[in-house]
Amino acid sequence: MPQDSATAASGPGEESAFLLACRRRPVPHTPVWFMRQAGRSLPEYREARAGIPMLEACARPDLVVEITMQPVRRYAVDAAIFFSDIVVPLKAIGIDLDIKPGVGPVIADPIRDAAAVDRLRPLEPGDVPFATEAVQALTGELGGTPLIGFAGGPFTLASYLIEGGPSKTHDRTKAMMYGEPELWARLLDRLADIAAAYLKIQVEAGARAIQLFDSWVGGVGPEDYRTSVLPHSRKIFEALAPYDVPRIHFGVGTGELLGLMGEAGADVVGVDWRVPLDEAVLRVGPGKALQGNLDPAILFAPWDVIADRTRDVLARGRTAEGHVFNLGHGVLPTTDPDKLARLVDLVHEESAR
Ligand code: CP3
Repeated sequence: MPQDSATAASGPGEESAFLLACRRRPVPHTPVWFMRQAGRSLPEYREARAGIPMLEACARPDLVVEITMQPVRRYAVDAAIFFSDIVVPLKAIGIDLDIKPGVGPVIADPIRDAAAVDRLRPLEPGDVPFATEAVQALTGELGGTPLIGFAGGPFTLASYLIEGGPSKTHDRTKAMMYGEPELWARLLDRLADIAAAYLKIQVEAGARAIQLFDSWVGGVGPEDYRTSVLPHSRKIFEALAPYDVPRIHFGVGTGELLGLMGEAGADVVGVDWRVPLDEAVLRVGPGKALQGNLDPAILFAPWDVIADRTRDVLARGRTAEGHVFNLGHGVLPTTDPDKLARLVDLVHEESAR
């Protein structure tokens, strides 16, 4: 589907609806983008990636540009997200890891003691020249459509490193958090420095907003979040403050943490589908914009149901000081791209002044 330039992107010198909403300023329409808008739901993505392992694709600027642009060509989305992965900076500093299809990141030697933590070295721009190159090229190709840079949050990165792969319960991760608080703090401090460095590299190359994905931090209760995670996330957001780009913070199942995730220093708090946006407004408090939160699975329901639920999200989102429409988590791989195209248009039509 061709991009509707009247609604998707602003012209030169004109602020984009996405950046305006993040800054809690009046918008011409509610902006919309989707987590995992680039990926297996798109046939052109599957074709571009054929035979190329995920981490190899992330290190090839030509492929990163092509894959990042694919959803922007297809949908009238108001922002692009840099095609990369949260483990790319870890690989770049020498961690032996791979992304296994259908599984996720797998670490050869999980980090479980002080010696392993101390081997995590800082990330330098020279470790990820492909990221700088890709973001610079994208900034040119995208024109007025902003590029969102991203990094993995400290809990989520720690979980992959400690468990050695994906985990539903994060047993070993929490065992370190509860049982070895000093080692945990040292690990998260290093991960915060790595995430901040990766985000700075993207912003200096042209990214106009950043999102910190602490996807699995919803497994932690509020008091432990406050003492064991928040200080490290705050360090990342503070490191980005001088750049004056909107900072988005997202996690899954974080209903009880939304206020604290804002307190950590985000300008925009991402909400999954479990908490209605008008309730999230109360939990987050004033001075923040919200992002979310249609259940990604709703896209498998008939169109009338999708449209009703979308209008409901928009209505609740109007109670926020700023609202960026998104799904409550990433696009599921079997989603029909035509439904996403229609959804973007519906969000724009329903919210246009
Ligand atoms: O469009 C976008 O949103 C940008 C691309 C993006 C990817 N990973 C590409 C990717 C982003 C923002 C991420 C972040 C990421 N990676 C997160 C946080 C976001 C979230 O979903 O909560 C997490 C937890 C990871 C770790 C990771 N990497 C997982 C769980 C997986 C999926 C494994 C699988 O095959 O199901 C990956 C691999 C990955 N990262 C894919 C993509 C498009 C799939 C790789 C493929 O196409 O084979």
